[in-house]
Amino acid sequence: MIHLDHAATSFPKPAAVLAAMRRWFDEVGVSADRGDGERCLLARREVDATRGRVAALCGVPAHRVAFTSGATEALNLVLRALLRPGDTVLTTAFEHSSVVRPLVALRGERRLRLEVLPPAADGGLPVDAFAAALATHRPRLAVFTHASNVTGAGLDAAAFCDRARRAGCTTVLDASQTAGLLDLRVGADVVVASGHKALHGPPGIGFVAARDGLELPPQKQGGTGSSRALDEHPTTWPQAFEAGTPNTPAIFGLGAALAWVQQQSPAALLAQSLRHVDALATGLAARPGVRLLLPPRERRVPVLSLVHEHYDPSELGALFAAAGIQVRTGFHCAPWLHAHLGTERTGTVRLSPGPQLTAADLAAVLAAC
Ligand SMILES: Cc1ncc(COP(=O)(O)O)c(C=O)c1O
Repeated sequence: MIHLDHAATSFPKPAAVLAAMRRWFDEVGVSADRGDGERCLLARREVDATRGRVAALCGVPAHRVAFTSGATEALNLVLRALLRPGDTVLTTAFEHSSVVRPLVALRGERRLRLEVLPPAADGGLPVDAFAAALATHRPRLAVFTHASNVTGAGLDAAAFCDRARRAGCTTVLDASQTAGLLDLRVGADVVVASGHKALHGPPGIGFVAARDGLELPPQKQGGTGSSRALDEHPTTWPQAFEAGTPNTPAIFGLGAALAWVQQQSPAALLAQSLRHVDALATGLAARPGVRLLLPPRERRVPVLSLVHEHYDPSELGALFAAAGIQVRTGFHCAPWLHAHLGTERTGTVRLSPGPQLTAADLAAVLAAC
């Protein structure tokens, strides 16, 4: 099987990720802060080490990293914690449903005003357009994805955060498509991501990394392993955002994944995967009827979407599947972007290679279509 669906979930995972998770099941089996003894200490050490690695990745202090079940939970918690009734929110047409749907729900509940930045003609999101939208709409919060999961187009997150800060606007960066590939230390007030995409961790784990001093009150209440005699959920971080038994085996796996990514170097992993995208784009552009939805080359991530003049994405997906190639077809949980791309009727075929793809894999993909 050839996996061209890393934008959904990376595969295969590094052996060290499996070994770390297995270690939890074989030797640890408990949560940190839920008892005394050697095994709780082992759990505590690993969880602290993973928290420290996420903190270093995002440029925040370790106590400002909270683990969640993924980017979706992280975004829901953060948006609910930050938004007040009547707020104006600036966001972009690139957003994943994990931003779009909480915002639309909160618009109803809290009478938000949503302003959505459309893509430019080249498919990118220029900082000047963002700055103009800040000046026109004066939002209290801006939430934007670091790169589109449909076209791979990235934005200049450091410049976006800088402009927003100067306009007094809080920023939330969805780094789900860039964590493990690009520098996340861009000055966002909050960074969220999932661990199972380019970070190469397991599913079921993600994080919120918030700058010190930003108020983020609890949105879920429950056991935390601390302040156990109190009937109120603690407001201190990270416990404020971590209610209930944590997914400790996934935290072990994420820790090993972060170490693996640093060892390989995110820049090298990105360059390798983009070389695969270029090879696929060159080969597929030569096929009659194929239209590639290419983003600007700078800051893109390894995602390639295409449509065909005569075939529906689902028909092409069936051809790929028959050849043992895993791609994604149709709509990609980014409802606002398909209209701008002219793909609102059928969606696209999305090929998203990871760094492990071989020359033989590439040849097999090109031979299949
Ligand atoms: C840009 C972006 N944000 C958020 C998410 C949500 O991630 P998860 O489903 O792991 O919570 C995804 C997943 O595809 C994504 O691509």
